[in-house]
Amino acid sequence: MKLDLLGDRQRTHYCGELRKSHAGRTVFLAGWVARRRDLGNLIFLDLRDHTGVIQVVCNREVSAEVHAKAEEIRAEYVVGIEGEVVLRPSDTVNPQISTGEVEVMARTLLLLNEAKTPPFPIEDDIRTSEEARLRHRYLDLRRRRMQHHLRLRHRASLTVREHMTAHGFVEVETPFLTRSTPEGARDYLVPSRIHHGHFYALPQSPQLFKQILMIAGYDRYFQIVRCFRDEDLRADRQPEFTQVDVEMAFPQRDVLFDIIEQLMEKLFALIEAKVRRPFPRLSYDEVMERYGSDKPHLGFGLEWKRVNLPEGAGEKLHVRQPIKVLRVPGWATAARSQLDKLQDLARANAADWFSYAKVGDSEIQSPLGKILGEEAVRTLAAGAEAGAGDLVLLLGLKSGSGAPGPQQRLDAASGELRLELARKLDLIKPGEWNFLWVVDFPMFEYDEKAKRFAAMHHPFTSPREEDLEKLESDPAAVKARAYDLVLNGSEIGGGSIRIHRPDIQKRVFSVLGLTPEKARERFGFFLDALECGTPPHGGIALGYDRIIALMAGESNIREVIAFPKTASAVDLMCDAPAPVDPEQLDELGINIKN
Ligand code: AMO
Repeated sequence: MKLDLLGDRQRTHYCGELRKSHAGRTVFLAGWVARRRDLGNLIFLDLRDHTGVIQVVCNREVSAEVHAKAEEIRAEYVVGIEGEVVLRPSDTVNPQISTGEVEVMARTLLLLNEAKTPPFPIEDDIRTSEEARLRHRYLDLRRRRMQHHLRLRHRASLTVREHMTAHGFVEVETPFLTRSTPEGARDYLVPSRIHHGHFYALPQSPQLFKQILMIAGYDRYFQIVRCFRDEDLRADRQPEFTQVDVEMAFPQRDVLFDIIEQLMEKLFALIEAKVRRPFPRLSYDEVMERYGSDKPHLGFGLEWKRVNLPEGAGEKLHVRQPIKVLRVPGWATAARSQLDKLQDLARANAADWFSYAKVGDSEIQSPLGKILGEEAVRTLAAGAEAGAGDLVLLLGLKSGSGAPGPQQRLDAASGELRLELARKLDLIKPGEWNFLWVVDFPMFEYDEKAKRFAAMHHPFTSPREEDLEKLESDPAAVKARAYDLVLNGSEIGGGSIRIHRPDIQKRVFSVLGLTPEKARERFGFFLDALECGTPPHGGIALGYDRIIALMAGESNIREVIAFPKTASAVDLMCDAPAPVDPEQLDELGINIKN
């Protein structure tokens, strides 16, 4: 096929802009052919660019040359079209598209490029494997839905930059080739050619750099920044992802919260969503008890309570105290099979004691009735605040089962059950935005395998001032000045007020089992900086991909990342990671083990 040259032709309009008011104008459009319909003397082309689609008419009687070229055209060919905008006959107006009242009578058709038959149609709702979409991402990104998401992402970054700048924050770029950072995932390493056996680590976050910027007197910093973590991937995790990273000196938590809440309000205004401020704040202990999760979805009730069984009942039932109870409103009619499914789910989440009570008008029906007597069951139902027509779920751990951490296991299982019930009962409503700050996280969590404490946020997080004296004597009871931002059950941000005093930093390292030598080896540069006049400071990092995905109504962050990786961290389009030439390895001084 003979191709035409674009020459110095300038596009006059985008496809999606043309309206009735353009009728009579001569336009030059350029784009991709989405569809061709051949009616003999008339060939219709749907011409697409990023703004939309317009119908082009190639009429043999107007131009035999244009018509002959149009006969050759296939989907995704690239063309330039000059012609006149005309009103469509009223019976062919297409109300589905914004340009549906007009069409363009082609006078010139430039065939600018051919295209192979695409492996899937370039349409919004396609039933194609994700593998095919990722492998041919250039075609996938051509779809209107993806165009929308990436453009939304762009507008959101402008909003972030404007908002943070207005509040006195400066964007500073921090390095990608750096040392291991303290977020607790595995690092991606980059070998050094000049220093054999030495490696850079790609940053898991700019945590230490942003703290150093506070020491350096920048006062308020932000950055829209790529972070790298080699961890197990899920729908909301990518090996490289973007944070809106924020830090401020002389921070008051409320001031930071307010700045971030306002930012959320502006971001969600981009999708015309209203955000209720101030966001509720709940302590970690409270959300774990009530929702069984440190990132609870607050869009529906279903709140657990911890209760103790009546005297002696724990032994009879072989269950540990306390148990958890949940009122499921109006679900006394639940079928046996539904309850069995919930029990299986509880077991799968390591809660091995499960029971229920169905509250009727006068009677109460429960497998516990025979063992405990009806009165005791009634007391339990009352503890759950259940009334006639409600179901009460009871969840616990068998006594003697498992070793430490039972309360956490019970909480986690109760959280899973709550979510499952919400899905079953269809309680999660789209288009509602339930923000929440979770505050007062524990400072440490006990790592059973390693038999030592680990930092729950990261080791630079400040303990609460009132808990400082318990740091060594009762680390498990120390609360951190750490907070997470949660939206609809998704953790969209996390941060803390930091340790700014070297003496406290040393004590925290010591609780974490980091010897002064080890601490110096890993973070020596930072400890030196800390001794040079560090102001009180604190900040947060927002999970940008997660926020954009929620705004775009997508459940997987891959849908809002231009070139994401698969669940096994592979870039299917460029086939990375890939082996490298032996010479390259040689230069780096690297031998690959078999
Ligand atoms: P944190 O580790 O909580 O904190 O990360 C902040 C936010 O980043 C998002 N996030 C991710 N998003 C996609 N893929 C991932 N693999 C991934 N990992 C994390 C989450 C999370 O809430 N330096 C601290 C912040 C601070 O203390 O200021 C940090 O990185 O939404």
